[in-house]
Amino acid sequence: MTQTNLARSAPQDETTWWRHAVIYQVYPRSFADNDGDGIGDLPGIASRLPYLAKLGVDAIWLSPFYRSPQHDGGYDVSDYRDVDPLFGTLADFDRMLAEAHRLGLRIIVDLVPNHTSTEHAWFREAVATLPGSAARQRYIFRDGKGKDGELPPNNWQSIFGGNAWSRAPGDSQWYLHLFDRSQPDLNWDHPEVRSDFEDVLRFWLDRGVDGFRVDVAHGLIKAEGLPDWAGQTSMVEGEEGAHSNNGPMWDQEGVHDVYRRWRQVLDEYDNDRMMVAEAWVHPPQRLARYVRADEMQQAFNFDYLLTHWDAQAFRDVVTRSLAVSAEVGAPTTWVMSNHDTVRHTSRYGLSVPGARPKGIDAAGEQPNEALGLRRARAAALLTLALPGSAYIYQGEELGLPEHTTLAAEHRQDPAFFRTSGEEIGRDGCRVPLPWQSAAPAFGFGPGTATWLPQPVSFARYAVDRQEGDAGSTLELYRAALRLRRQRDLGNGELVWRDAEPGVVAFANGGVHVVVNTNDHPVALPGGEVLVSSVPLDSGHMLPANSAVWLG
Ligand code: NOJ
Repeated sequence: MTQTNLARSAPQDETTWWRHAVIYQVYPRSFADNDGDGIGDLPGIASRLPYLAKLGVDAIWLSPFYRSPQHDGGYDVSDYRDVDPLFGTLADFDRMLAEAHRLGLRIIVDLVPNHTSTEHAWFREAVATLPGSAARQRYIFRDGKGKDGELPPNNWQSIFGGNAWSRAPGDSQWYLHLFDRSQPDLNWDHPEVRSDFEDVLRFWLDRGVDGFRVDVAHGLIKAEGLPDWAGQTSMVEGEEGAHSNNGPMWDQEGVHDVYRRWRQVLDEYDNDRMMVAEAWVHPPQRLARYVRADEMQQAFNFDYLLTHWDAQAFRDVVTRSLAVSAEVGAPTTWVMSNHDTVRHTSRYGLSVPGARPKGIDAAGEQPNEALGLRRARAAALLTLALPGSAYIYQGEELGLPEHTTLAAEHRQDPAFFRTSGEEIGRDGCRVPLPWQSAAPAFGFGPGTATWLPQPVSFARYAVDRQEGDAGSTLELYRAALRLRRQRDLGNGELVWRDAEPGVVAFANGGVHVVVNTNDHPVALPGGEVLVSSVPLDSGHMLPANSAVWLG
């Protein structure tokens, strides 16, 4: 870390980097492919770091790149201390990290503590031993119900569909998996599970990572006795499901002990290392408990992601989010898309704008691409002007739409298979990025291979098409991020301004933000136009579905 540009700030002070950081999510499979196998990799990411530095983000969150059989895009980890050969080597990671730090970019890695892969050495050992063995205690094995134990121990359903219990071939006992059957849940009451994960944290902290995104942070501890639950959660997809996480497997008090301990580990290190919780809990007061002073620093604000294209709804969610996080002294985050949701550019183009279907295929409602993009550009100016920390999902800065016509034969999301296609799944937001409009695979890699096919429309969105074009989405993001930094909007204070129906208006750091969610133009207040999501011809009107920052 000797070459790093990263300034050390006083821990927890008002300006600590994660309080206002713009954090860019890289989904490694789909970002940039260096070796030509059609799957993105760490050297590919390293080669594109200058692009991210130029974009103007502060940090990068990398989805998992660890050893994994890849049954759930790497969220099924078989070795937490190694890089999967698909993505490179530990040396590639170290090189990428050093280069990121040299460019002033922080790196956050994903931690997947709720479950391992069935290929993990612990699970292999568990199924190789008899019921009751010590090795089985690290997971949640139970005898079945019924005369011969042929029925699952309780009625819990997997988030990806089907039963949450499976038996290894020839095994008499069942093991719990809240996700795919290849992802057995760990037993977090086991001391060795706790100590090993602390060791995993140290492994990556020692290498120099700046933080962790904690997967399924609300799921580690299950209620005593694993009681039956009539509810059904669809944690990562579906609007209704996201708010029904009050079952005995979610948000149990005991998870907070784990994060308090992890916080102590992080605090032993310099450079303000951080954690961000992926916790689909409700109401927001429950989420705030994950970011109390001695726990994590951030939690994803999924309420914001779930907000429809509606001015009042935006005002409400922003007001509520700021108030609830202020109560615990934490910053708010703002997130519109990630690798688990239909891209917001496409969601804003649906007949219910902002609705969150469980994936989109050719048989489903096709979003209005132009309208969705127009709204997404306006939403970017809303999001990036808010105080707190903002997340950008790779390709969002290009205005990339969801792949909405991906054929079933290409799909890889376990949710698609476990629901027999009833849930379309998340592949459509994970399609490899277009870098060059005229190159094979749109410049994703050196060859023609891409692990998911790209739609032809991606040519229009390629980086090289947008660079230098003042009207492009990429240049809009660059301009907004530059101004956000100059005016220190992330550390600013939001003051609502009066506005007509359908309009969101506020001031922050001397910037007056106006977002028109209406389908008709509205009068524009006076002021110098700093950046706008559409060209402003008349100077007096803000067109439908657009936004402006005024100075
Ligand atoms: C949440 C992750 O974001 C998602 O991609 C994954 O499938 C589940 N957790 C299980 O790890």
